[in-house]
Amino acid sequence: MIGIKTSEEIEKMRKAGKLAAQLLDYIEPFVQEGVTTLYLNDLCAIFTKMHGAVSAPLNYRGFPKSICTSINNVVCHGIPCADDVLKNGDIINIDVTVILDGFHGDTSRTFMVGNVENRVADFVRRTEKAMYHGIEAVKPGKYLYEVGRAVEKYTAQFGYSIVRDYTGHGIGRNFHEDPQVFHHYTRANKIRLQKGMTFTVEPMINMGSSYKVKTSRKDGWTVTTADGSLSAQFEHTILVTADGAEILTRV
Ligand code: MF3
Ligand code: CO
Ligand code: CO
Repeated sequence: MIGIKTSEEIEKMRKAGKLAAQLLDYIEPFVQEGVTTLYLNDLCAIFTKMHGAVSAPLNYRGFPKSICTSINNVVCHGIPCADDVLKNGDIINIDVTVILDGFHGDTSRTFMVGNVENRVADFVRRTEKAMYHGIEAVKPGKYLYEVGRAVEKYTAQFGYSIVRDYTGHGIGRNFHEDPQVFHHYTRANKIRLQKGMTFTVEPMINMGSSYKVKTSRKDGWTVTTADGSLSAQFEHTILVTADGAEILTRV
């Protein structure tokens, strides 16, 4: 069942989304060579608490930290850790989700550490663009699969691949609600978009030609590309409006 948010709920989603975006803006200048992902985690946890919110990832299905930090070939759900020190040339996705007044705001960006190879910088910028193509496909009355179709249409030309095992999701009082939002074209998303739906668009794109991923048997969370290639991701939480989409995770 896909819920339609009331105007009061939408107002709360706007506040949660704004705080999540402010958190990414806050952490960005700390994303530098020599910094550990645990340090980034701790700063984010403090910022979230100081703004009267809760870090949704912490203890979510047993996740042990407050944010996800996914470096290079890590696709998603990387666990912040004192041993993970950022190096020049790395790419790192920071995925933050806050709960404010009962509602979730979920957003992520891939940051570049120091000097990144041109082909990698292009890859990261194109992944962000792919997300925006997906968001631009959102219109009430259209099918949700237009999101995946738009991401796929743009991405295909570069020879990259779109991760299939992890998707966007409805969001509200719950971190993950219906519907699942695929970032490739599939009839499984033959769902009519309606004003008042809120969900994320968060394509994970692998630089190589394989969309396959694997999950760490050691920690049960860290998802990496099967072929070792780099992976990037950007995420916004959006609201379906009368004529398109409103990005809620904006400052
Ligand atoms: N923020 C992720 C998403 O976009 C979910 C992370 S779940 C966690 O859906 F448990 F790893 F935090
Ligand atoms: Co999400
Ligand atoms: Co997220």
